[in-house]
Amino acid sequence: MSKMTPQAELMQNVSVPFGQAQAMPVSVYTDPAFLALEQSEVFAKSWVCAGRAETLANPGDYLTFEIAEEPVIVLRDRSGVLRAMSNVCRHRMSVLLEGRGHIRSIVCPYHAWTYNLDGTLRGAPAMDMNASFCKEHNSLPAIRCVDWNGWIMLTLDADAPEPAMLLADIERLIPYLDMKDYTETFREEHRWNTNWKILAENFMESYHLPMCHAGTIGGSANLRDMVCPEGYSAFNYHHILKDDSIPLSLAHPSNTRLQGEERNRTWLLAIYPSLLITLTPGYFWYLSLRPDGPDHVKILFGGGMSNDFMQDENVAEQLVALKALLDDVNDEDRGCTERVWKGMQSAFAVPGALSHLERPNFEFARWIANRVAGAA
Ligand code: FES
Ligand SMILES: [Fe+2]
Repeated sequence: MSKMTPQAELMQNVSVPFGQAQAMPVSVYTDPAFLALEQSEVFAKSWVCAGRAETLANPGDYLTFEIAEEPVIVLRDRSGVLRAMSNVCRHRMSVLLEGRGHIRSIVCPYHAWTYNLDGTLRGAPAMDMNASFCKEHNSLPAIRCVDWNGWIMLTLDADAPEPAMLLADIERLIPYLDMKDYTETFREEHRWNTNWKILAENFMESYHLPMCHAGTIGGSANLRDMVCPEGYSAFNYHHILKDDSIPLSLAHPSNTRLQGEERNRTWLLAIYPSLLITLTPGYFWYLSLRPDGPDHVKILFGGGMSNDFMQDENVAEQLVALKALLDDVNDEDRGCTERVWKGMQSAFAVPGALSHLERPNFEFARWIANRVAGAA
């Protein structure tokens, strides 16, 4: 057995040219100490997506989320500003809100300390006899929250560059699709028995389509036609051209702005560490991943339509059919990624060589290696 730490093994793994790349070492998936490093160096220092901003349309709409195990509230405040704050009460530290919904104020379920939507403490019963208590010093700590093209992006890191800067290359790459012009129509939460990186890597390559998705979309994919361009520092991507078997994936007939292949090109964006977006002119779907132990991943799975399609009355049935297809595709991905996790537990599990179609996986491995390098 190697005595190297997982991060040292990973450094060595990514030090070769892409033409000789191997899958990541098993320890970076299975070692709880490496997961702790990922929480502190990756998830606590990156932008993590909590879903779509249009789902918090009105003042008082809120959702709850965790980044690096830290409970967070995201809400629309009275002045219409999207805000995030700690979801931990300033009294005896109860978690305040759960799930999602609509509120006029944040009332702690334990002793009813009550906070305004901007996080300031409005009132606390029977606290006037404690001389140390001061309402003004008991606001919920603010957490950075940005609406980036309709995506709710959160970070615990005060110094992380803004998503608009970090991800400007996406807008340069796809100037003709504006992610603000899409509306979420479904959203679910799942938990799969695999490491979060196995699922992220599964999204990044379409090499698995013909086999893993033989029962659904596999037949439409030709490995020879796949292009895996070099990625950028904050994300990787690839794209495919869709035929007309799913009308929703093409530009709506009323959209005369998109031209030529723009009308049927599907983009697959993997924004590090864990926002995975499939974007077509007609619909989008996404996964936002968070680790839950080395052996489980928590998945926010959502999607919806471009606003051109939202205005089309006949689109409801197509959307139902699309959602059913996505569910089937996800089931296949679940099978494949859970089998990888299981295989990795074997004494014979050794990472193998990567295909040229797995370039994004290698870039992802390099990105993680850079993130944890300082802590190695
Ligand atoms: S813990 Fe919140 S009011 Fe006591
Ligand atoms: Fe897949």
